Amino acid sequence: MLDVEAYLQEAISAAGPEMRELLQYCLPGGKRLRPLLVILSSNLGYCRPQQVLPVAAAIELIHLASLTHDDILDGAATRRNRPALHRLFGPLPAVLAGDYLFATAFHILARTKKGIMQAVTQAIRLMCEGEIEQQQMPAGDEETYLRRVQKKTAALIATACQCGGILANLTLNQIRSLEQYGLYLGTAFQMVDDILDLSGDPKVTGKPCLQDLQKGIVTLPVLYFLNTSPQKSFWHEMLARRSLGLEEARELARQVRASGSLEASVRTAQQYANQALLALEALPPCPPREKLAELAQKVLAPAAEILTYKLSQPIP
Ligand code: IPE
Ligand code: IPE
Ligand code: MG
Ligand code: MG
Repeated sequence: MLDVEAYLQEAISAAGPEMRELLQYCLPGGKRLRPLLVILSSNLGYCRPQQVLPVAAAIELIHLASLTHDDILDGAATRRNRPALHRLFGPLPAVLAGDYLFATAFHILARTKKGIMQAVTQAIRLMCEGEIEQQQMPAGDEETYLRRVQKKTAALIATACQCGGILANLTLNQIRSLEQYGLYLGTAFQMVDDILDLSGDPKVTGKPCLQDLQKGIVTLPVLYFLNTSPQKSFWHEMLARRSLGLEEARELARQVRASGSLEASVRTAQQYANQALLALEALPPCPPREKLAELAQKVLAPAAEILTYKLSQPIP
């Protein structure tokens, strides 16, 4: 992964000083999940690192662009334990930095293998659709929630796996299985992120809690809670306003936690992680497949930890 870091630095080195300051701020501190998925998927077959690294780095740049824009859309104050870019430099520079990151990714991808550019741009289109659907209408049922999660998060994660498979010349069926793995993993990943919004420690997640609630974004635990709560219509109305006060959001979070909906959501996320593991079975057993399996086994860890140790603690 050191090579990916070097490639990311190299990718932004052509920018002028004003833009470079913004880009340098965006780069550090992420888990680099998507480049890891490109690399592991490509290791299921054979291809040269010079072919894989640009794609891995480009997909991370797209992820960074989407986070930069997402923080503007969500009005988020922090990201990766630091002020979000738009809070520090203002929304206009942050929009432009996001655009620059997207363009830098396309610049790299334009020289890669056929099929990759199409796969990645389709994932970005889905991501934008997921984001706008979420902004415009709170999810009313689990199916709608799931469709949005697949679009805004799982699509890019699935594409990272797909691109690795394309680069390694895997069979169409094997590439399809990798994509399925990514789709299930990405869905579980976003479910965990949504659970952490209600119960995580901002010092650990690096971003604010209760952000989804305050914005009226109805995530899985909230949906489960609303389905069983006698106060369903009251909370529906509150969420529909799309700007809950901190105390209201805290009260809703308390009720969601007390209802057992976080545990139910962890169980659902676990089912998706299991499906991801199942998808891997269509691929030949080998060390990179084992590493992909480990990722699916670990995806629930941050939420599971909270349920075990922290549920009794006050909401930050
Ligand atoms: C955050 O993604 C956005 C979601 C899809 C939940 P990551 O959790 O992968 O973000 P970084 O790159 O590690 O900060
Ligand atoms: C994921 O959704 C955003 C993108 C896919 C860009 P969130 O809005 O939940 O992500 P965080 O919580 O801000 O990282
Ligand atoms: Mg967000
Ligand atoms: Mg989130």
